[in-house]
Amino acid sequence: MLTLKKTPGRDFILLNLSDPQLGDEEWAPDHPHRRILEGTVRELVRRVSPDLITVSGDLAWAGNDLAYDALADFLDGFGIPWAPMWGNHDNQGGAEYMESVVKRYLTHPLCLYERGPADLGNGNYVIRIEENGVPVSGVIVMDSHDRAPYVNGKGEESLEWAKLWPAQITWYREQVRALKEEGCSDTALFMHIPIYAYREAHAAAEKAGVDPKSVTPAMADGDEVWNPGYESSFGVRHEGICSYPADEGMFAAILEEGSTKILIAGHDHVNNTVIRHRGVTFVYSLKAGAGCYWDPALNGGTVLRITEGGVAGVCHEYVDPAPFTE
Ligand SMILES: [Fe+2]
Repeated sequence: MLTLKKTPGRDFILLNLSDPQLGDEEWAPDHPHRRILEGTVRELVRRVSPDLITVSGDLAWAGNDLAYDALADFLDGFGIPWAPMWGNHDNQGGAEYMESVVKRYLTHPLCLYERGPADLGNGNYVIRIEENGVPVSGVIVMDSHDRAPYVNGKGEESLEWAKLWPAQITWYREQVRALKEEGCSDTALFMHIPIYAYREAHAAAEKAGVDPKSVTPAMADGDEVWNPGYESSFGVRHEGICSYPADEGMFAAILEEGSTKILIAGHDHVNNTVIRHRGVTFVYSLKAGAGCYWDPALNGGTVLRITEGGVAGVCHEYVDPAPFTE
């Protein structure tokens, strides 16, 4: 496990960036997408002064070495620890390619990363946030891979978005139990591709008859678009929930262990809902920058506030990209 120290009497601020996903050519000096990403992240760091920056997957496109290195160099420039995790576009290069990126990333002193058990994919690891030697929260990072085969009820085979593997769920249980033994029953789980239960949470929260695509962030701040009991939800869902089509069993494990209070996913660039469902907060992180596809109105980062009692709040910090394109 990796450890970061929280200063007593002061909140620990975690800034998550999702899906920056620029290609080599978009990192060219003065490319508008580079300017937007750099401008956005600089603004976020200025605004929230994070203690840790996490990047919830799709850092670039597999094979774009220059882009991976440019992003690492850029993040180093803030002098703040940063922790990467891999998305489907990163994993597309396979374990060997991921390892070549990891080897370079681990030469960056500010990069927090552990490979984790080799049979669980690329990068399953935990960061303990510790105050006075005791963990107050655990940041659990899990590799959600790329694609996985699926067979539907009619016996038709297809390749779908991947899921967490059974052995990863076992590993997850071991991690939260180890933290519990240290007196910490608060964890945040980060992954790129949302787990299946995101579908359950959204189905429970979204009011029937409201087209999610018609909901704006301002409307989502109100109660009108949410079912009773879900009025604290916010954020929009402008596309489908691209998880594996069947339940991988992760949410059942989360509920049984009773440690993880918040889930953070990326992957779906124009979804940024935050929904509290069955005692767990399901978060789609705000996307950072114009890489791949985006909505300029949904640009920025997502911030977790961690106190001595664990994760105490989550919010989106929207950044208007217009000034960076002029
Ligand atoms: Fe993705």
